[in-house]
Amino acid sequence: MGLASSQDRPVAWGILSTARIGGALVAGARESSAAGIVAVGSRSAASARAFADAHGIARAHDSYEALLADPDVEAIYVPLPNGMHVDWTIRALQAGKHVLCEKPMDRRPERVAEAFDAAEQAGLVLSEAFMWRHNPQTLRLRALLDSGAIGDVRLIRASFSFPLAADVDVRLDAALDGGALMDVGCYCVSGARLAAGAEPERVSAQTVTGPSGVDLRLCGLLRFPGDVLATIDCGFDVAARDELEVVGSDGRIVLADPWHCRAPALVVERSGAEAEVVEIEPVNSYRLELDDVSAAIREGRAPLLGREDALGQARTIDALYRAAAEDASVPVG
Ligand SMILES: NC(=O)c1ccc[n+]([C@@H]2O[C@H](COP(=O)([O-])OP(=O)(O)OC[C@H]3O[C@@H](n4cnc5c(N)ncnc54)[C@H](OP(=O)(O)O)[C@@H]3O)[C@@H](O)[C@H]2O)c1
Repeated sequence: MGLASSQDRPVAWGILSTARIGGALVAGARESSAAGIVAVGSRSAASARAFADAHGIARAHDSYEALLADPDVEAIYVPLPNGMHVDWTIRALQAGKHVLCEKPMDRRPERVAEAFDAAEQAGLVLSEAFMWRHNPQTLRLRALLDSGAIGDVRLIRASFSFPLAADVDVRLDAALDGGALMDVGCYCVSGARLAAGAEPERVSAQTVTGPSGVDLRLCGLLRFPGDVLATIDCGFDVAARDELEVVGSDGRIVLADPWHCRAPALVVERSGAEAEVVEIEPVNSYRLELDDVSAAIREGRAPLLGREDALGQARTIDALYRAAAEDASVPVG
């Protein structure tokens, strides 16, 4: 039996921090033949050890710097608080590692551009971790829209909210770029952009700000080329809701679980016909995300989500916050 070539080896990933979401990525990696988690780094040696033991990870580093210096790590997953994403992404790239950075990469388009400039200069892969974009349910939605299943897309409605029980959470920390739009509304932005198949031209928005200074609730209106309109809403102080509805000239498609994709299914209603439910086999989106970025690394190709998508996200989020602050409709970009 010959040795597997280095191109066939699973990509060796390190996790930067002991963030809760890291557990989901580890579970995804367990199902992947393209990726393996080999190390974790934390600001605390004890936390790194506990996380490594809990998740069966071989090496625990007592600092982020030590993880980035680990020669056996090829790629870094960055699940830090939002405001730390770009700094540590750039540090990882400068250490010669490919990077999968948690969403939202940053709310400032110029910082997202800086991160991709660093990746391009180093010849390394960088991708924003919107796991829902990798799920077959999402791919089916786009395929249905492309096939004209509901005619021309005219209206989009996207929601993501949940009641945030904790008083202390990175999501409520203004200095770390918390906020409902950053945490969950960014999925609605991603969903509206995907369904429209374009970038928004103008947006307006209203927010409700909490005592810590972050948006607890946001409603936004996005205008895309071709008179396509989208409404998005998100929140931390309301009941849990996940929904994506795309309305066309001849029907509509509704996804009741668009972001987590735990119970994937699309309901397609065409004018004058019975509603059709398109069932989708549940798949671990984190595994698919890791598979895609790991294959991009090995094959020297672009990942599904690269520079243009991340910039489109940041430009829209930035415009929504500007619109809310100015109580006005503003151009995107
Ligand atoms: N794709 C998804 O499904 C998904 C789901 C949830 C969250 N996320 C994203 O993942 C990121 C992390 O979210 P999370 O809920 O997992 O966060 P979390 O549990 O609060 O973890 C954040 C980690 O960052 C490190 N950290 C460094 N400086 C910190 C500071 N000043 N305050 C707090 N923590 C600090 C800590 O690790 P050490 O103590 O080990 O250094 C901490 O465990 C966010 O960007 C979020 O948007 C994505």
